[in-house]
Amino acid sequence: MSTVTARPGSAAVDPRAGTRPSQPVIQARDLVKRYGELVAVDGVSFEVEQGEIFGLLGPNGAGKTTTVEMLEGLRKPDGGSALVLGLDVARQADVLKERIGVQLQTAALYPLLTVEEVIDLFASFYRRSRPARELIEALDLGERRLAFTRDLSGGQRQRLSVALALVNDPELIFLDEPTTGMDPQARRSLWDLIASLRERGKSVLLTTHYMEEAEQLCDRIGIMDHGKVLEMGTVEDLISKRFRERSVRFDDIGELPEERLAALPGVVRVVREDGVVALYTPDVAATIGGLLQATEALGREPANLVIRRATLEDVFLDLTGRALRD
Ligand SMILES: Nc1ncnc2c1ncn2[C@@H]1O[C@H](COP(=O)(O)OP(=O)(O)OP(=O)(O)O)[C@@H](O)[C@H]1O
Ligand SMILES: [Mg+2]
Repeated sequence: MSTVTARPGSAAVDPRAGTRPSQPVIQARDLVKRYGELVAVDGVSFEVEQGEIFGLLGPNGAGKTTTVEMLEGLRKPDGGSALVLGLDVARQADVLKERIGVQLQTAALYPLLTVEEVIDLFASFYRRSRPARELIEALDLGERRLAFTRDLSGGQRQRLSVALALVNDPELIFLDEPTTGMDPQARRSLWDLIASLRERGKSVLLTTHYMEEAEQLCDRIGIMDHGKVLEMGTVEDLISKRFRERSVRFDDIGELPEERLAALPGVVRVVREDGVVALYTPDVAATIGGLLQATEALGREPANLVIRRATLEDVFLDLTGRALRD
């Protein structure tokens, strides 16, 4: 163990290599990565706080993996800089490796080792590790413990790659599309696991192109396209910044003419489509109140009444003019 002596006049040196609770675990500044003519990552800056789950959401080719790999110290940026756990990724990648967990989008697993053997092997790369049994249980791989990794299903392989990312009990975990290829049940249980990491004070950077995953799991999201982060914030921020209105929907009632609907309190737009009316309004309560009065006067009641807010999908469409998944 080395002893650090502060020189007279110099600031005291933090023995935990620079991480203070108040310091972001990731500070990316203007990161750039080029592949020939292509600018895969084009000036990306963001911060992730300790205990936060931050999601990079974007379509195929947006630059998510490239960004994450630069932060993991696996790919050298052509521009910009990044501090991860207070360490400069370009110069201190070796120290960093012990403290982060990395799940690669296309993990090469040793085909002729069993699940348990691969976990043990990965554990041997680190000074500190979690017991294989614990990880096998956490990722629900008990039944496949003695299976060769080549015989795993896509979803099981994915779960194993997450287990491997946790093997050194890291402070910060990078997950690149962790739930791709999983069935809905496995996906939900992985969401629970990721949320439990946050409860233990860990931080997570994940990439995804699943809207629901980003909405359910992430404290904040960066929406990426063509190498740039277009917008960043909580789901609520991202949606409410663009869409003030919600829509009140119900099965169309022929006796209510469009003018009558448009004149209901709060209504700014009426869309009638496929037997459903959508009333866009910033004041849902007033609109529904007015609607119920109007229908009652007709001796009717709106059927299948729902309130819908805009989704991240709507935000993405509005930002880029394209659907997230074409
Ligand atoms: N090693 C490489 N050499 C050349 N081009 C690359 C390389 N890696 C990535 N690219 C290109 O950089 C762009 C960004 O790729 P990246 O893998 O970061 O996207 P992504 O957002 O992770 O996409 P996906 O959702 O498909 O995983 C793409 O156009 C991709 O083809
Ligand atoms: Mg990717």
